Amino acid sequence: MSKNFYITTPIYYPSAKPHMGHAYSSIVADFFARFKKIQGFNVFFLTGTDEHGQKIQRAARDKNMDPLAFCDEISKTFRDLSKTLNLSNNDFIRTTENRHVKSVTNLWNILEKKDEIYLSKYSGWYSVSDEAFYSDDEIKNENGKKTSLTSGSSVEWVEEESYFFRLSKWEKPLLKFYSENPDFILPESRKNEVISFVKRGLKDLSVSRKSFSWGIKVPSNSEHVIYVWLDALTNYISALNYPDEKNKLYKDFWPASLHLIGKDILRFHAIYWPAFLLAANIPLPKRVYGHGWILSGEEKMSKSKDNILDPLEIINIYGLDPLRYYLIKEVSFGNDGNISKEKLENCINSDLANNYGNLCQRVLSFIEKNLELKIPSSYNLINDDKNILKIYEDSFEKIIDSIDRQNINFYVNFIQEQLFSANKYFNDQEPWKKKDDQSRLNTILYVSLELIRKISILLYPIIPNSSLKALKMFNIKEDKIDFNSIKFHENLKKNDKLNKISIMFKKVDRND
Ligand code: MSP
Repeated sequence: MSKNFYITTPIYYPSAKPHMGHAYSSIVADFFARFKKIQGFNVFFLTGTDEHGQKIQRAARDKNMDPLAFCDEISKTFRDLSKTLNLSNNDFIRTTENRHVKSVTNLWNILEKKDEIYLSKYSGWYSVSDEAFYSDDEIKNENGKKTSLTSGSSVEWVEEESYFFRLSKWEKPLLKFYSENPDFILPESRKNEVISFVKRGLKDLSVSRKSFSWGIKVPSNSEHVIYVWLDALTNYISALNYPDEKNKLYKDFWPASLHLIGKDILRFHAIYWPAFLLAANIPLPKRVYGHGWILSGEEKMSKSKDNILDPLEIINIYGLDPLRYYLIKEVSFGNDGNISKEKLENCINSDLANNYGNLCQRVLSFIEKNLELKIPSSYNLINDDKNILKIYEDSFEKIIDSIDRQNINFYVNFIQEQLFSANKYFNDQEPWKKKDDQSRLNTILYVSLELIRKISILLYPIIPNSSLKALKMFNIKEDKIDFNSIKFHENLKKNDKLNKISIMFKKVDRND
């Protein structure tokens, strides 16, 4: 099995500053990247900004700015956000960079040379907001305004000379690919939507525009710019130095292990992208996962609806790890979710401060008082101890498997159950009553420390900063965190001095 893992976020439109939906895609991708890293994989994690097309050109024009200067400014806010969110990305790609322009131009040339692209005329509906073409049956009439049935964004009529990609030709090969690779699109429900869409028949796709100039020029005809989605999707290989297919990054990491995206852009990733790759004879990614939306109230966030949730506001009030924890735990992965102040405060007070932070402090201060802050020098496991430790051995494969199917819900439930059990264990074993039975006392404390170590490792991909704070107790540094070690119970070095740790989570005072 290959020990390389390549994960991508969508590249974001820098048409306005980032919002909670963008933060969500990025945080979840970071969760998977960090998990695979501690599992021992060589991980490449990519994010970036999607800077060409009419949407960006218009946004820049509205601000009276040159499109590149406009992108420079907003792309930076996305780059800054990736730092604020503590993303472990290896690269941040911008589609205005030379490396990307070179890669897209090369892909176009291949497609044109293979006669996968031809010149004709497009007449139909176009949504600038979605950067998508729609057919008549995908449009509705709303108060005299034509809008897309799926996204609700307004569409305009476009009639212009355009290059077309022979998408129709790839209908059968795509269906064959989906059936031979049943896990290519997840979750299952989204896969079914894609398959029925393809089965209804694919039309050739317009892949160039002539009526504006902000994009990568068609190499053989500079009057056209390449359709922004053909341009954008290619970022996933540009960052690996495509077209240099012999270089190490490309060889190690293509095909991608996981393109993590929102459900609204599934069609582009699960139909167009594999079709372009099939046509260019480039291997297809292994998985496309379409997650749900973070709703603002009951609706998707958008600038036009003026209902944007700003991740920075939440982080300033509550801190980063609580937000990461909330988004990963409270949004049932694959479905839509929303941010509720009450639920977020509950997560902080109950799960993080009480069940996790307090457990760490309680065990540590007990050991400080009774064992001079040292890891017990011996232990002698009885059934109660063996049973609670054994859960980690028994669930080990299931945890990995759930992550490999993007079943975050299983992972989060497992941690919650283990936090509950660890607290229960410490309470039920009553170490404060075992002061004259040193052997039993040692064992209870050893097991409690082991549980804290295991849970902190499990929490690392979700709340890396807090987990590291707890692991500092054992002097475990970030590059030494090893997920595989959770199934072994003899990790702690007897008699080693533990470090005291500072308060991990500040409870929210509900009367504030
Ligand atoms: N630029 C394209 C993606 C190109 S990938 C080759 C794009 N950009 S976007 O900025 O509009 O959206 C980027 C991602 O953010 C998408 O996955 C989208 O689903 C996600 N989100 C945007 N709003 C969202 C929510 N309200 N909730 C969750 N994610 C949503 O599409």
